[in-house]
Amino acid sequence: MALLELDDVTVRYGGLTAVAGVSLSLDPGEVRAIIGPNGAGKTTLFNAITGHAMLAAGSIRFRAERIDGLAPYLVSAKGVRRTFQNGGLFGELTALENVLAGLHTQVPTGFFGVLFGMPAARATERAATSRARGLLELMGIGHLADQPARELSGGQQRMVEIVRALATRPPLLLLDEPAVGLAPAVREQLLGVIRRLVREEGIAVVLIEHAIEFVMTVSDRIVVLNDGKVIADGTPAEVPRNREVLEAYLGH
Ligand SMILES: Nc1ncnc2c1ncn2[C@@H]1O[C@H](COP(=O)(O)OP(=O)(O)O)[C@@H](O)[C@H]1O
Ligand SMILES: [Mg+2]
Repeated sequence: MALLELDDVTVRYGGLTAVAGVSLSLDPGEVRAIIGPNGAGKTTLFNAITGHAMLAAGSIRFRAERIDGLAPYLVSAKGVRRTFQNGGLFGELTALENVLAGLHTQVPTGFFGVLFGMPAARATERAATSRARGLLELMGIGHLADQPARELSGGQQRMVEIVRALATRPPLLLLDEPAVGLAPAVREQLLGVIRRLVREEGIAVVLIEHAIEFVMTVSDRIVVLNDGKVIADGTPAEVPRNREVLEAYLGH
């Protein structure tokens, strides 16, 4: 059974059709890249999936259940997690606290349980803290766990945001341009972490990315969007041969 199914998804802003009848299907544990020129509708497609943009037509199913029309927090609670193109951390909280904040939206006993000193909740909290620290280590930013987020570099903040999204072991993770602005070494590290999470935890990933070499090495399949429409959907070996793709990218 498909993990995520988009059928004829359409999003309009006034007279502009940002996403025009996109259909695609994602298997559990799959890594899918979405590429395409600026303004192609990539972020809007994510917004449609996560409840941040309303559909003008079409439907979205997650684990066979309709999720279009749900509020973002409900989509997130079902296990669809995302990062944003331009951050979204609490600057005053430490890296670790930001990650834990992501967990608390998922585990209601966490925050209030700790407040009222329930032993089971305290154990949950300890397990969460230990997983959060472990993931920060894995990303190579364990030493920054106790620093306020606003003191971290843009790349480090991006890593914290990804850890926050991952900490809940979501079945589906949506990453909007995660590698932009990262140093090549950090980018490699991020690639390694994505591969490992997919392999070891079966997390499916949809990745919007401009860095084509990054996309080619990590993805099972690549979807190309242009003017809100899917113009190619295939393996990394197939897509670059596609004539429409070359035209969208290179204009010939
Ligand atoms: N909230 C919005 N209101 C109006 N227009 C929007 C909004 N979000 C995106 N758009 C427009 O929709 C189109 C697709 O944008 P976007 O999804 O951000 O593209 P991409 O992420 O591929 O660069 C663009 O023309 C953009 O200007
Ligand atoms: Mg975008």
